[in-house]
This record gives sequence, C-alpha cells and structure tokens, in this order.
Amino acid sequence: MNKKGISKNIVLIGMSGSGKTVVGRFLSQKLNMKLKDTDDIIVLNSKKTIPYIFNEYGEKYFRDLESKVIDDLSSKTGLIISTGGGVILNKDNIYLLKKKGILFFLRANIDTLVKNIELSFQTHRPLLDNNRELEDNIRNIYKKREKLYTSGADYIVKVDNKSVEEIGEEIIYILNK
Ligand code: S3P
Repeated sequence: MNKKGISKNIVLIGMSGSGKTVVGRFLSQKLNMKLKDTDDIIVLNSKKTIPYIFNEYGEKYFRDLESKVIDDLSSKTGLIISTGGGVILNKDNIYLLKKKGILFFLRANIDTLVKNIELSFQTHRPLLDNNRELEDNIRNIYKKREKLYTSGADYIVKVDNKSVEEIGEEIIYILNK
C-alpha cells in the first residue's frame, strides 16, 4: 500500500487529448504510486512507435498488444494506469481493469480534445494523424465510443477548463470519500 493508503489501481480512460498521461503523472507523484502508460509499454516492448505498428501491422495487431499489456497490468495493484483511447473497444480489457482498479473517465468536450491534440499532433496518434478535419474525425470517434467510456467508468471527471492539478485533486477527493 502507498502512503495515501490506496491499494487498488487508479485507471484513467478517455479519448486522446483528454489528459490521461499528464493527469497520470500528477497522480503518480502526488500519491507516490507507479505510473504505467499502456502506449509507452507497447512502444518499449516492441521497440516500435505506435504509428509504425498501425501502418505496418494494422490496428488489430495493435489492439492485441494492448490487450496483452492490460492483462499483465491488471493482475497487479497500487498502480496508476494510463490507457490508450481505444482500450474500451474490447470489453475484456474493461473487465480485467475493473478487477483491481477504479476506472476514471476523463470526459472532455470536442473543443478541449481538438486543442490538446493539436498540441501533440504528429507525435503518436495514427488514428488522428494527417487529418485536416480533425474535429469531425474526433467527433465521429467519440460518438462511437462515448457509451463505452461511460459504461466502463466507475467515475466520470469533467476536464474542460481545468488544470491538471485540479483534475488530479478531484480524483484524489473521490478516492478519499
Ligand atoms: C488510440 C489512442 C492512442 C493510442 C493509439 C490508438 C485510440 O492513445 O493508443 O494511437 O484508438 O484512441 P492516447 O489516448 O494516449 O492518445
């Protein structure tokens, strides 16, 4: 157990650009819990970037790698787990993550997602890369996924117009309730 007494995993789910990685980092420092970012683990294990994996092997291959990482992480405890935006597409992932984790959906409106994604554009987001109609694309993806995020989540945290610290503190407040 860590110094704040949280023995479960704290799992962050949500769209690309909702702030999972930065909020994960904040929580990790504040709660003295290890941060595991599923995208980072995939890159580390495969020694390939995510766009490369998507382009060379396809999305299904990536999703299988992602599920293997989830399977591995979900048997552990006391972790902050920052997931890739598509983790909710496989209900087994959610089932596994819920076993030892509390799932927080970082809910952002489309404007917030666009703003954040533009900042990190071209780094590691093949589904959204090279797309002039970024906003439409995000809207379409979100429409397909929204129910999965909300039904998978134990808690929904609205992130629009909030700082990383405010979002992190809100999660800690929920955990302490
Ligand atoms: C994806 C989101 C990405 C990454 C991959 C697929 C998605 O992670 O896993 O590009 O399907 O939404 P982030 O949510 O960290 O951008």
